[in-house]
Amino acid sequence: MKEESLNVLVAGRWGGREYALALEANKSKLVKRIFCPMGNPAISKIEKCIGADIDFTNIKALADFAEENNVDLTVVGPETLLVGGIVDEFERRGLGIFGPTKEAAMLEGSKVFAKKIMGKYEISTAKFAIFNNSKEAKEYVCEIISCVVKADGLAAGKGVILCYGAKEAKEAIDKIMVEKVFGNTGNGIVIEELLPGKELTFQVITDGETVIPLLPSRDHKALCNGGKGPNTGGMGVRASASIITDELKEKIMAEIVNPTIKGIKNEGILYKGVLYFGLMIDGQDIKVLEFNCRFGDPELQTILPLMKSDIVPILKAVADENLGEQRNIEWSDKSAVCVVMTSKGYPGKPKIGKKITGLDKAEKTEDVTIIYAGTGEENGETIAKSGRFLNIIGIGRDIPEAAETAYEAIGKISCEGAHWRTDIGV
Ligand code: AMP
Ligand code: GLY
Repeated sequence: MKEESLNVLVAGRWGGREYALALEANKSKLVKRIFCPMGNPAISKIEKCIGADIDFTNIKALADFAEENNVDLTVVGPETLLVGGIVDEFERRGLGIFGPTKEAAMLEGSKVFAKKIMGKYEISTAKFAIFNNSKEAKEYVCEIISCVVKADGLAAGKGVILCYGAKEAKEAIDKIMVEKVFGNTGNGIVIEELLPGKELTFQVITDGETVIPLLPSRDHKALCNGGKGPNTGGMGVRASASIITDELKEKIMAEIVNPTIKGIKNEGILYKGVLYFGLMIDGQDIKVLEFNCRFGDPELQTILPLMKSDIVPILKAVADENLGEQRNIEWSDKSAVCVVMTSKGYPGKPKIGKKITGLDKAEKTEDVTIIYAGTGEENGETIAKSGRFLNIIGIGRDIPEAAETAYEAIGKISCEGAHWRTDIGV
C-alpha cells in the first residue's frame, strides 16, 4: 500500500471509542483522509479528520457516502450498525469494511443465540435457562438464592438485572417481560446463575481464520468508588499485558476464544472483526458473561496508546480476509489507566452544557491522551455535551504510575458538577 493512499470512514455516532479510532488511524502513514460525523469541534484536533454531513446511524447513507467518496476502509463503532447489517450492505456493494455481518453479530445481538452457541460448543458460561413466557420464568426462580435476569436483544449495555432472592427475580422478570423497561428487547429472557469472581475484558480480532488477541483490560462499570452505585457504560479501565499471566491468556484462548471462533464457523457463519469476550475469572475457572461484536468502550481507547503497530493495515487485513499475513500486533510493555469524566446526573439524565476549562494544561501533561468523547463548543469554549464526555488516559511503567498520571491531568480540568471515580488503578 502506498503512503497516504487510503480513505477511512469511522461509522457510528461519535463517542470515545470512535474518537480513539480516528486518532489512531490519523497516525498511520497509509491514511490520506478520515471521515467522521460533524458536530464535535474536537475533530479539528485530528489532522486528517473531515466531518461528513450525513446521518451516521443510517446504513444506506453511510454506504452511499463511502461509494461517492472513494472510502477504502470503514470501521464501525457501535453494535447497532453491525446488528442492523451495515457489513452486509457494504460487502454487497464491494466496499471494504471491518466488522461482522448481521448474522455473525447475533453473538451480541441475541443472548439466546450466544447461549445456544456456548452450549453446543462447550464454552463455559453461567448455567442458564431461556424463557419466552413470564409465568414459566417465575416458577423457575421460585427457590433461587441469587440469579441474573437478562433481556434478549440489544439493550445498549443495560438489560441485565442482578437479583438476590426469588422476590427480586420475579420483579425483574416483570420489569423486562411485562413492563418492558428495556423496550421490545424483553420478549425473551435468559435467567442465569450469578457468578463470583473478577471480570476481565478479552478482545480478539479475526478474519474468521487467524485470531490475534488485543491487550487484556479491566473495566469498572459501577458509577462510584469501590464498585458502588448503578452500572454504567464504563467509568474507567486498567490495561496492560501483565494484568493476567501468560498461562491464563493461553487458557482463555484454548478454552474460550478458539472454540467460539471455530464453533461459529461450523455453523456456516464467518466472523470477521473484533470479538469482545466479557469474562468472569474465579481462580482457574473462566466463564463467558457476554460476547460483544464491537470494540469495548472505554477499553479500546485505553489500549490504543499502548499499540506500537499501525492499526490500519491490521483492520484492512481483516476486511480483506488476509489477517494471516499480518503475523502479530506489537504492544508497549507499559500500562494504561483510563478515567472517565461524566456530567452530573449520568447514567440517568445527565445535565449537559457545562463549560470545561483547563484542557490545554491537561493535554500538555506527559504521557496523557485526552479523548473528546462527548464535547461541543459554545461561544468559543469547550462544553460537555453528553454523559461520558471525556476519557483521560495515563501511561506509566505500571498501573499505579499510569493512574497517577491520569489523575494528575484530571486535576487540571474543571467542569461544574462533573463526576469521576478516584479509585481506578490506585
Ligand atoms: P452483560 O451485558 O451480560 O455483560 O452484563 C452486564 C454486567 O452484568 C456484566 O459486566 C457483569 O458485571 C454483570 N453480570 C452479567 N451476568 C452476570 C453473571 N452471570 N454473574 C455475575 N455478574 C453478571
Ligand atoms: N465497557 C463495556 C463495553 O464496551 O461493553
